[in-house]
Amino acid sequence: KPVVLSGCQPSGELTIGNYLGALRQWVAMQEDHQCFYSLVDLHAITVRQDPKALRNACLDGLALYLACGVDHQKSTIFVQSHVPEHSQLAWVLNCYTQMGELNRMTQYKDKSQKAEANMNAGLFTYPVLMAADILLYQAERVPVGDDQKQHLELARDIANRFNNIYGDTFTVPDPYIPEFGARVMSLQEPTKKMSKSDTNPGNFIGLLEDPKKITKKIKRAVTDSDEQARIYFDIQEKPGVSNLLSLLSCATGKTVEQLVPEYEDKMYGHLKGDVAEAVVAMLTPIQERFQQYRQDQAFLDEVMKTGAEKASAQASGVLSKVYDAVGFIARP
Ligand code: TYM
Repeated sequence: KPVVLSGCQPSGELTIGNYLGALRQWVAMQEDHQCFYSLVDLHAITVRQDPKALRNACLDGLALYLACGVDHQKSTIFVQSHVPEHSQLAWVLNCYTQMGELNRMTQYKDKSQKAEANMNAGLFTYPVLMAADILLYQAERVPVGDDQKQHLELARDIANRFNNIYGDTFTVPDPYIPEFGARVMSLQEPTKKMSKSDTNPGNFIGLLEDPKKITKKIKRAVTDSDEQARIYFDIQEKPGVSNLLSLLSCATGKTVEQLVPEYEDKMYGHLKGDVAEAVVAMLTPIQERFQQYRQDQAFLDEVMKTGAEKASAQASGVLSKVYDAVGFIARP
């Protein structure tokens, strides 16, 4: 079976963007792939975290993976910091990555332009750690949202560079980006992506949010001031309406082409009501299962323990190969 690896940062509450862009694909891929799904807490500390909140976010994330349908018996679910090989390989790969390549990463550029107070070195080398996550498992496919495309290209470049110097060592990974849901936009500013770290909570929908709140947020979503208030899909002209149509499509399984005629004589309010209903219906079963998993600490511990063991078993072999390739003496 082809190997798959992906991860989410346990920082803040996961959103419907994370679900539609990534988690939903993870679940679908479990049947015919060997899957590794991580909670990337090492990545999360590139932004200052409150230790207690980080621990909670990690357990929430774990329970959410399970609640969304990631099956710990089919897939390996693990916490990144439990598998030290990630940090170890990241260091090696740092030495095979150029400053210029990292300077070109748009996510880093955005952050540095906002002159964030905490421009630490980890933020700069973040994509190298991500490459290590992927290459450590010889992953062939990496299911992610659209915003991770550039990071994946870098992972491919690093893998190819290393292979060219030392001979075939790493599998070169392919991104796996869904056709729909790969870029869920912010509700209030529909030209930027929905993000869990957004300072305006009106911009995103958390997977664990109260249905009444979700409905309120969707009803307040920005559409446009088109006087005829026509409903059609056009990301340039109608980013807000198009985002709502995409959400409805993802939540109902109908295509946007099927949906648009249904709204020919309808108002934005109708569309919003339907989107809210469909999103709530999609999330309710996830929220119910989440509560059950989150309360069962013994079970979560067991999932983390077996996950870390399985992940380490895979990762340690690849790390040894890399250490040997670059010329480290084996520990006698
Ligand atoms: P993170 O935690 O920001 O997001 C997790 C996944 O959710 C996707 N996503 C979205 N998809 C659609 N619309 C959105 N608005 C949206 N927001 C987020 C992301 O594309 C991602 O797939 N660097 C990664 C985590 C990571 C990783 C990895 C991923 C670390 N190592 C190895 C894959 C493989 C990140 O910050 O994702």
